[in-house]
Amino acid sequence: MVTIKSEREIELMREACRVVAVVYDELEKVIKPGMSTWELDQIAEKKMRQLGAIPAEKGYDPGIRGVPAYPATLCVSINDEVIHGVPSKNKIIKDGDIVSVDTVALKNGYNGDAARTFIVGNVSKETKRLIDVTKQAFFEGIKYAKVGFRVGDISHAIGEYVRSQGYSVVREFQGHGIGKQMHEDPGIPNYGKSGRGIRLEPGMTLAIEPMVIQGKPNILELEDGWTIVTEDGSLAAHYENTILITKKEPEILTLL
Ligand code: MF3
Ligand code: CO
Repeated sequence: MVTIKSEREIELMREACRVVAVVYDELEKVIKPGMSTWELDQIAEKKMRQLGAIPAEKGYDPGIRGVPAYPATLCVSINDEVIHGVPSKNKIIKDGDIVSVDTVALKNGYNGDAARTFIVGNVSKETKRLIDVTKQAFFEGIKYAKVGFRVGDISHAIGEYVRSQGYSVVREFQGHGIGKQMHEDPGIPNYGKSGRGIRLEPGMTLAIEPMVIQGKPNILELEDGWTIVTEDGSLAAHYENTILITKKEPEILTLL
């Protein structure tokens, strides 16, 4: 079901989303080579709780037989890991890595969701371009996040932009509505046909999240039931914000 948020609910969405933005501000400052992804997770959880929020990914049950509930505050996916990398004391961030982080804060009953790919130390120009294109794909998409357009217009804009830059979008995972639930309708694929899907209306809150691969679009799931990697071993990046559809321009809730 697509939910339209009231003014009061929008205020609560803003608060939950602000927590996520502040957490990323902190992570950007502290992320360093030599640190484990578990340490990064600990820092994020502490910050989130200080800000009066609950880490919504922790304990999240995907409802798939044999797959354990998600154990951490962050998803931390390094290099060819696309999404859902599980933090671990044995996973050390190195100079030259790109680190995709995805997290959801639950505050006063509402969820805020965002993802960033951080550059650690020195990376090549081409790697930087992958990260820039992924971020820009989000902004290309939200040009259509307005009354008068449909979900398919956002999807189409993201997919075509990424393709035009010589990269691939992940097809198996998508953006989504968000509110009291982390995942609400509509699903928002990162590719598709314009003019299709539901019409956008003021009061909708949406998580738009291009996941972009340098090489082929194919992905694999690791045995942990969570970590998604690129099949060809090429790099991947992720950029996500929760936005609000208004009568005018969309409001990006997870940016400070
Ligand atoms: N935050 C992810 C999203 O963008 C969901 C991660 S799955 C979880 O939809 F188990 F980690 F929560
Ligand atoms: Co999301």
